Amino acid sequence: MSKRARHLPGDPSATEDVQRMIRVDHAGEYGAARIYEGQLAVLGRSAAAPVIRRMAEQEKRHLAAFDRLVVDRRVRPTLLSPLWHVAGFALGAATALLGERAAMACTVAVEEVIDEHYREQVDRLGKDEPALSAAITEFRAQEIEHRDTGLAHGAEAAVAYPALSAAIKAGSRLAIWLSTRL
Ligand SMILES: [Fe+2]
Ligand SMILES: [Fe+2]
Repeated sequence: MSKRARHLPGDPSATEDVQRMIRVDHAGEYGAARIYEGQLAVLGRSAAAPVIRRMAEQEKRHLAAFDRLVVDRRVRPTLLSPLWHVAGFALGAATALLGERAAMACTVAVEEVIDEHYREQVDRLGKDEPALSAAITEFRAQEIEHRDTGLAHGAEAAVAYPALSAAIKAGSRLAIWLSTRL
């Protein structure tokens, strides 16, 4: 039984729960798109560029889907969009300046957190909201691909990988916590 099954259909708290999910996912996909833009600003002409560009394109599709959901489901977007606009880009650009491997380490860290976040959401939805759940499942599979792409491109060989990864994961979890609430 899903955790949300304790709510009756039409219960405002269940609706609110779904709206919060859409809000945080919209924020996350926005942040992800900005991270890849930041990476491409630095690595746009590098050997890694086509790989990064492909992931960036997929993030744009994820973002477009949540843009539609925000409108259709009358979700108030996060108040923190201006922050994610700057912070996402800065994170992507800063790690890219450290080198291609650090950029890939950033991707791996972020995608691991998103994978876990999407898995929790799908569990939470259970049999509710099948269309939303299917979209999240599809995007999650692509986030896992992005993680694997990062690993295949030397993420773990980045200088100070454990510290870099831990810091980015902590930041990503904080961003999720904040975007769910604000
Ligand atoms: Fe995504
Ligand atoms: Fe991704």
